[in-house]
Amino acid sequence: MAHIWVNDVLMNRAEASIDPEDRGYQFGDGVYEVVKVYEGNLFEMEAHIDRFYRSADELRIVIPYTKDVLHKMVYDIVEADQLQTGHVYMQITRGVAPRQHYFPDEASATFTAYTQVSERPYENFERGIKALLHEDIRWLRCDIKSLNLLGAVLAKQAAHEANCDEAILHRGDVVTEGSSSNVYGIKDGVMYTHPANNFILNGITRQVVLRCAEEIQLPVVEEAMTVEQLLAMDEVIYTSTGAEVTPIVQINEQLIHKGVRGEWTKKLQEVFESKVQAAITI
Ligand code: PDD
Repeated sequence: MAHIWVNDVLMNRAEASIDPEDRGYQFGDGVYEVVKVYEGNLFEMEAHIDRFYRSADELRIVIPYTKDVLHKMVYDIVEADQLQTGHVYMQITRGVAPRQHYFPDEASATFTAYTQVSERPYENFERGIKALLHEDIRWLRCDIKSLNLLGAVLAKQAAHEANCDEAILHRGDVVTEGSSSNVYGIKDGVMYTHPANNFILNGITRQVVLRCAEEIQLPVVEEAMTVEQLLAMDEVIYTSTGAEVTPIVQINEQLIHKGVRGEWTKKLQEVFESKVQAAITI
C-alpha cells in the first residue's frame, strides 16, 4: 500500500486530499525535492535536505521540522512503502489561504512526500540519448527548486514531440542546463559546465559528478558554453537524480562523438557507480 505524508500525518495515499486554495496549487508557491533511493538507501540525502531548506528560505517559507526530523520522516515512508529502487518526491507550499498574491498572514505550510518506484535507465547509460536545443524562457531564479515548472514543461514537451529525451536550454547564445538536468561538454580533456548561479539549479548529481571528475583527474571549468561550442564538444553529458550520468549522443540533427558514448563519460559513470554502491553498502 502506498503512503503519503500530509504535514506530519503518514496516511494511505488514496485517502489524502489537497485544498484547492493551497498556494502550491494556485500559484506554484512552493518548492520540492526528488531524492533517489537505491536498494532502500537514500542517496545524498543531506545535500537534498540542505537544498530543500535553502529553496524554502529564499521564498520565505518556513519548514516546520528540523532537518533531522525531516530526514526521519522520509526514511519512514521509504520503509512503510518498502521501496527498493525509485525516488521520494517531497514538497512544501506556503499553505492554504483565500486567493491573493501577497503572502497571507495566517497560512501554515503544507508538506507532502510520497515514494515512486522507478528503474535506473541502464540502457541510456550505454546508448545515450538525443536532445533538442530550446530557448530558456524560465525566470531568473532557477537556483530555487520551485514548483513553477512551466518553462521546463514546455521545453520538455517540445523535446518529446521531436523524439528526444531532453531539451538543452539556452538563453540567447548561452547554454544554461537541461529542462530537468545539468549539462556538460568535454573538449580536449577538459569538462565545461555552467557555473552554479541564478541561471541554473545546482544539481546534487552535478555536485557529485564534479567530485567524480576530480577523482579521475578530469579538469572542470565552470564556465558557460555557447551553443556553437556545445555542438563542437567531443562528448556531452547530462545529469540528474533520475538520469544519473547519461551521454547525449545527438543534439538536434548533429551527432556527438559519432553517436556513441565517449571514454570520459564512461569513466565518470564508473566513479559515480562506485559512489552509488558505497551508499548501498552503508
Ligand atoms: N530535476 N536542473 C533542473 C532544472 C532540474 O529540474 C534538475 C532536477 C536538475 C538536476 O538536479 P539533481 O541532480 O539534484 O536531480 C538540474 C528533478 C529531478 C525533477 O524535477 O524531477
